[in-house]
Amino acid sequence: MTKTSYVTGKEAFFGDDEIIVSKTDLKGHITYANDVFLKIAGYTEAEVLGQPHNLIRHPDMPRCVYKLLWDTISSGAEIFAYVKNRCKNGDHYWVLAHVTPSFDANKAIVGYHSNRRVPDRQALERVIIPLYRDLKKREDAFENRKDGMNAAFDDITALLQGKGVAYDEFIATI
Ligand SMILES: Cc1cc2nc3c(=O)[nH]c(=O)nc-3n(C[C@H](O)[C@H](O)[C@H](O)COP(=O)(O)O)c2cc1C
Repeated sequence: MTKTSYVTGKEAFFGDDEIIVSKTDLKGHITYANDVFLKIAGYTEAEVLGQPHNLIRHPDMPRCVYKLLWDTISSGAEIFAYVKNRCKNGDHYWVLAHVTPSFDANKAIVGYHSNRRVPDRQALERVIIPLYRDLKKREDAFENRKDGMNAAFDDITALLQGKGVAYDEFIATI
C-alpha cells in the first residue's frame, strides 16, 4: 500500500457514543480494527490488517508523543493520549486514546489494544493543540529526527516537572 502524508486540513468527526478500536501485534501491526475505525479512517478491513499502525499517522503529530506511548506500553503500563489521526482521504480526526498491553497467562506482553473516544474540545483547543504545535516546532528545528524527538520529549518532562504533576495526572486534569 502506498503511504502518503497528504492532508486536507479538514476535520472529520465521530459520535460521542462511538469507540474506535484497534489491536496490534508486538511491532504495532494492525491485527484488528472495528467498524468505527474503518468508517472514520476511510479504509476497508483488508487495507488495514497487517499494516503498521502509522498508516493513519498524521504529519502534524510530534514524534515524542509516540515515544512516550511506546515507552509506556512496552513497559507493561497503560497510557491515555490525545492523537490527531489522518484519514485515507487526507482529512483528520482527533481522539483521546487509551492504549494497553495485552498479556498471556505468563504475564508476557503479546500485543496491544487501543480504545479511542471523542476528546474534550476545550482540552484540545486550550492545551493539546498549542502544546503539540510547540513540540512539533521544536522537533522540526533539528536536522536529526531522533535528536528533535528527544529534545521535545525533554520539553514535556520539564513541563510536567514545572507543574509538579505526572503525565497521567496532567492528561486527566486538562
Ligand atoms: C495499539 C496501538 C494503537 C496505536 N494507535 C495509533 C493511532 O491511532 N495513530 C497513530 O498515529 N499511531 C498509533 N500507534 C502508534 C504507531 O504504532 C506509531 O508509533 C506512530 O504512528 C508513529 O509512527 P512512526 O514511528 O512511523 O513515526 C498505535 C500503536 C499501538 C501499539
